[in-house]
Amino acid sequence: MISTLDIRIEKVGQSRISEMDFHHIEFARKYSDHMFIADYDGKEWKDFRIIPYGNIEVSPANPAIHYGQSIFEGLKAYKGENGQVLIFRPDKNYERMNKSAERMMMPQLPRELFIDAMHELINLDRDWVPDVAGTSLYIRPFMFATDEFIGVRPSDTYRYMIITCPVGAYYPKPVKVKIEEHFTRAVKGGTGYAKTAGNYAASLYPAWLAQQQGYDQLIWTDGQQHRYIEEAGTMNLMFMIDDTLITAPTGDTILAGVTRDSVLTLARDWGVKVEERPLEVQELLAAIKEGRLQEAFGTGTAATIAHIEAIGYRDEQYNLDLGERHFSDKVLETLDAIRTGKAEDKYGWNYIV
Ligand code: COI
Repeated sequence: MISTLDIRIEKVGQSRISEMDFHHIEFARKYSDHMFIADYDGKEWKDFRIIPYGNIEVSPANPAIHYGQSIFEGLKAYKGENGQVLIFRPDKNYERMNKSAERMMMPQLPRELFIDAMHELINLDRDWVPDVAGTSLYIRPFMFATDEFIGVRPSDTYRYMIITCPVGAYYPKPVKVKIEEHFTRAVKGGTGYAKTAGNYAASLYPAWLAQQQGYDQLIWTDGQQHRYIEEAGTMNLMFMIDDTLITAPTGDTILAGVTRDSVLTLARDWGVKVEERPLEVQELLAAIKEGRLQEAFGTGTAATIAHIEAIGYRDEQYNLDLGERHFSDKVLETLDAIRTGKAEDKYGWNYIV
């Protein structure tokens, strides 16, 4: 017990871990034995407990269901040497969770509630952290409104929970993405930077339309002119053009990805030229046609580094036969080595359980 929190722990009678085949993990299909729960009563967080994973009961008048007052995070724990468990950059997710909470009129989480509760939960379920290459334990902290009231106003009460599940690749193979010019993911002044449920719900229909045309995901463009590349919703986007790594700047409409930040940190450290700036769709298309696009990939906790093999624009599909992916492959290899404790953690990214 490391925590200063008073957590009640009720362990499962019988672990379900024997149901897991760690060599064939489907993304987020099986959940670990336990989950963490805390409740906010309008004044303070209380009733901290770790209990067996299972269904929960909410009022049918729950405002998270009706108006989407709901936020979440995604992070990963890795198995290191000698059974050590390492959580990757949880402080970044903690900061972002509270930014999302502020935007959605939800209470702030004290750091120990985010970090210490996660520590206790992962420690208890540490056998669920897989040690097969390319796998990890996905950690999903989330908070939602719990009042019994269908008026449109912030809820007084909330629940915070953490569930975890062993995962493999979110995108098991390189992705095909389509540049979206009609629908909009986020606008200036909106909620694009917050990790809130509605952002994802709103993306489902446009993504489904693209999937009917054989694409995996969308490249969202800015909501005003559909002229600049933003992100993919499930991941930030990066392009290596003329030896320069280009990605959209964070702001109102872009989620400040932890993997995004880690990739940019490594790139700068390696002396790669980095530009965080609006990238015009036409500039990207010109780079593809002129053979100047060297690499295209998404970055995200779930997605890790997802190579892009094709980009759709209007009626055209550009197949990216880009050859060696020097930078993104090196990034993935380096991140994997740091996250599993095989390489020096010189940035202090790992939180050890
Ligand atoms: C993550 O990368 O952790 C996310 O929350 C994105 C979602 C597509 C799984």
